[in-house]
Amino acid sequence: MPRVFVARRIPAAGLDRIAAAADVDVWPDRLPPSPDQLRERVRGCDGLVSLLTDRVDAALLDAAPTLKVVSNFAVGFNNVDVPACTARGVRVGNTPGVLTDATADIAVTLMLAAARRLGESATDAKEGRWLTWEPLGWLGQDLAGKTLGIVGMGRIGFATAKRLHHGWGMKVLYTARSAKPDADRELAARRVELDELLRDSDYVSLHADLNPTTKGLFGADAFGKMKRTAVFVNTSRGPLVDQPALAAALRAGTIFAAGLDVTDPEPLPPDHELYALPNCVIAPHVASATVGTRDAMANRCADNLLAGLCGDPLPYPVNN
Ligand code: DGY
Repeated sequence: MPRVFVARRIPAAGLDRIAAAADVDVWPDRLPPSPDQLRERVRGCDGLVSLLTDRVDAALLDAAPTLKVVSNFAVGFNNVDVPACTARGVRVGNTPGVLTDATADIAVTLMLAAARRLGESATDAKEGRWLTWEPLGWLGQDLAGKTLGIVGMGRIGFATAKRLHHGWGMKVLYTARSAKPDADRELAARRVELDELLRDSDYVSLHADLNPTTKGLFGADAFGKMKRTAVFVNTSRGPLVDQPALAAALRAGTIFAAGLDVTDPEPLPPDHELYALPNCVIAPHVASATVGTRDAMANRCADNLLAGLCGDPLPYPVNN
């Protein structure tokens, strides 16, 4: 039987299928294995189920020359050195498509929460600062009819824009490497340069993937170009944002508020300055955290792993 290391407990929907076909070693702890532990456990394995917290790099691959397939339990794969895998003939797969709706739901949730000051007002209510109904209390921003800027019009950007265009009547601007005729037709969306999007959007939602060209994309310069009433949402990856610059922009009122599902690092230490800002809502990277979505991710992850173990092309490949 092939040997497989699964770097965390994943839903039975996928794990049981893998266990039926392979000799499986599952990392039992809530926290991820360290790089040394990962290297140790992967040694001699044919397959690896990795998570976004596990660095799959040349050092790991060199410690596991028998590895045929890395099945990443995520749609993002910035934790995997794909060229290093390709160079060693290791197939890499991810879980696209099945977390689109759940992630778009969280983008909208964070947008509403940040725009309507929900974190701040709910905390005030709980801690005894709800004194009466105040005409000027906790005033937020409207969404209806406003302009939404989607940075990165892929599947998740599109699903987010669809919700906000059809539900709130928002006008949609977007950036993308190529034109998106579906977005233009179905959402009356307009592809623009990033500067125009930042200048004209009331809400900016970040959906670009993390790579050397997008790291730090949102820094002081970008926040400085946004409206003072703008709300910024990030459900992609934390390192796309220069966090000290975001904190400064939120503190100075350069932008109105932010909603983040991702940070750098993760977890964000509890004493981090962003937590102290009332106009910043932070969720612990939960965009795909629904029962159905995680089951579907586990199934895609098993589909990739089982194909790779047989030497077949992966159904959801990153480098086939
Ligand atoms: C992903 O899949 O890339 C998400 O960030 C975690 O579900």
